[in-house]
Amino acid sequence: NMFKVAVVGGEGIGPEVTAQSHRVLKWFAANRGVPVTMREAQYGIIPYLATGKVLPEDTVEAMEEADAILWGATGGPETKEVPPAARKAGSLLSMRRKYDLYANLRPIVASPALADSAPLKAEVLRGVDFVIIRELTSGIYFGEPRGIETLADGQRRGFNTEQYTTNQIRRVARAAFELARTRKGKVCSVDKANVLETSVLWREEVIALHKQEFSDVELNHLYVDNAAMQIVREPRQFDVMVTGNIFGDILSDCAAMASGSLGMLPSASLGPVDKFGRRKALYEPVHGSAPDIAGKGIANPLGSILSVAMMLRLTLDRPDDADLLEKAVDTALANGARTADIAEAGATRLSTEQMGDAVLSA
Ligand code: NAI
Ligand code: MG
Repeated sequence: NMFKVAVVGGEGIGPEVTAQSHRVLKWFAANRGVPVTMREAQYGIIPYLATGKVLPEDTVEAMEEADAILWGATGGPETKEVPPAARKAGSLLSMRRKYDLYANLRPIVASPALADSAPLKAEVLRGVDFVIIRELTSGIYFGEPRGIETLADGQRRGFNTEQYTTNQIRRVARAAFELARTRKGKVCSVDKANVLETSVLWREEVIALHKQEFSDVELNHLYVDNAAMQIVREPRQFDVMVTGNIFGDILSDCAAMASGSLGMLPSASLGPVDKFGRRKALYEPVHGSAPDIAGKGIANPLGSILSVAMMLRLTLDRPDDADLLEKAVDTALANGARTADIAEAGATRLSTEQMGDAVLSA
């Protein structure tokens, strides 16, 4: 049973970091027998200049047939050359929607090797290991009606609609409970049920699902403002945190500081399980195209490499290999491997490729 992976580096530092994570995935296929075939495809300004499409047919096909997509990044100044209509037709957002990638998993792990140089105190960070699951295809970012209107008195009024349905809540809560079963068995659901109707429904549905199917998992609830404070105060208390789109966006950036650099963070975005038991998934580093360092070969590839670890665990069904890869990253860091973004003053700064080498040799 071969799995298919589409490798799409995209723009900016995307192709640079993805070259390293692709090497790592190839290593697992060659040396650990991970049953996977890889198909590289282009996205963004380069195919646009050649074909007039940011998302050419070949790439659509590669992504369509794939069990998992290894994505780099999109965006940057050169993308201004692409007219908005052409860009929108193949945007990352439109793909997330097309494949209904509703469950966005963002693990927050404080590497012991970086704990002392991270912005939070080492004694708060030691042992931090949790996952934020952010609902990615609904909520206030997508709700209708939305707009800006001019009122009778000449003022303007901007408005958005926060909305969640039972199914939208239940499916992401299910993803959280199922993930918790493979970890420490704890789910923290975050909402603002003291103020928002959507959050009242959110909490009711999470409680109902928990009672029906997941009573073996420990469940608690936090209001989002308290959750923000708890993430900074005592992040070790969390195992799996599940929340809506806007709360997850903000909380995950807050939690990201526990890891030391944006360049360290992986993510997975999971779609619905189909009748064959498969689920489409997109794996990408949390960072963007980083135009300020693109083309220099100095970007940190660890966010992309750790996204491959998530792929091994969640799509390829190889938890031992996922552990092995995460351990290799820790070992490389413990041995002092540093790209510029995580280097202490005076430390040797590895190139993107050298960091790939360091992980592979570990
Ligand atoms: P960014 O994540 O690209 O960069 C923010 C800062 O972090 C920059 O100083 C950059 O040099 C640094 N950085 C990011 N990744 C790094 C890495 N791997 N190693 C070392 N340093 C790293 O975010 P920014 O600047 O807000 O956005 C740039 C472009 O990327 C925009 O066009 C934005 O829309 C796009 N973007 C795309 C995403 C995606 O493809 N999923 C996600 C976020 C932003
Ligand atoms: Mg964000």
